[in-house]
Amino acid sequence: MVNQRAGVLGTGHSYPEGILTNAELANIVETSDEWITTRTGIKQRRKAAPDEYTSLFAVRAARQAIERARLDPADIDLLLCATVTPDQILPSTGCIVQAELGANNAAAMDIVAACSGFLYGVSLADSMIRTGQVRHAVVVGAEILTQYVDYTDRQTCVLFGDGAGAAVLGPVDNGRGILASKIKSDGRYEEQLYSPGGGTRKKPTAETLAAGDHYFKMKGNELFKVAVRSMAEISREVLEQAGVKAADISLFIPHQANQRITEAVADRLNVDLSRVYSNIAVHGNTSSASIPIALDECVEAGRIKEGDLVLMASFGGGVTWGAVLMRW
Ligand code: UT7
Repeated sequence: MVNQRAGVLGTGHSYPEGILTNAELANIVETSDEWITTRTGIKQRRKAAPDEYTSLFAVRAARQAIERARLDPADIDLLLCATVTPDQILPSTGCIVQAELGANNAAAMDIVAACSGFLYGVSLADSMIRTGQVRHAVVVGAEILTQYVDYTDRQTCVLFGDGAGAAVLGPVDNGRGILASKIKSDGRYEEQLYSPGGGTRKKPTAETLAAGDHYFKMKGNELFKVAVRSMAEISREVLEQAGVKAADISLFIPHQANQRITEAVADRLNVDLSRVYSNIAVHGNTSSASIPIALDECVEAGRIKEGDLVLMASFGGGVTWGAVLMRW
């Protein structure tokens, strides 16, 4: 069996121009900038215009990542698009992105793992590169969450934003690349974060639309505790798997769900906040796009240098969670 280590060759991100501030939300629902800032760390989020759709941003992010990897779209063998807000049910947003990019040699599909979708994709791409089944993979996380947010539910509508991030993975050497990865899920927690209507179980009808069954429903308080516990636990597991101490991590990029979750996880892992990346103030929670957007922002800002140990961890609806440790 080939055991070729995979690493990130290029990253990219894209998001809508539209911005929805806390002050604007306070005009729509009973909330305040003060509550949102202190309870979540969010100040604003990006919001797509009515004529914008998920693949638009996915394509831009993926194209940038492919260019930065100095590859041609035809070099891509696998395209994984993590999203819970696809353009449409059929075909997959992955196939739509593939066609737009001209990545004609790729197998393309979607990954539905909510906020963990990007790390699920990275983990799967890593396995396929390791075994020699593919050479170059693009993993995109892309969402238009604001379309599925109920702007009368103040607990959820303040959290979510739109955008896309992407990474190209391929063979790397000299001890670089993905050292360990782990993904997990527990469907028994389905109703902690879900959108019950619009599928085959609760079919889309005028009634389900009027009742808002297609909107995200969340038991935020319960989810909070599970998120902190799961992200810390799985992070420790990948560190142990790779024989790395938390003190050696150069940068921790957690899923951006809530600044208080980020700080609680960092505290449990004993990683100083100076080594933890946070962009939640400007993006809010963009689900599967959150980690790849953050990763690309770190690359652009020069916060990751060759040889750095980067830990990424996520938690989301399903529930799903995962962690990936890599040497840059
Ligand atoms: O990405 C997937 C993973 N996502 C998560 O894991 C999200 C996890 N959950 C959270 O981030 C937090 O639970 C929330 C931000 C959603 C809520 O924060 P919280 O500190 O857990 O608030 P809470 O639900 O305990 O509510 C406290 C109070 C309640 O009022 P009462 O009952 O004490 O009078 C809420 O009604 O805050 C109220 N509240 C708000 N007030 C103003 C809830 N949302 C708002 C709001 N503005 N937007």
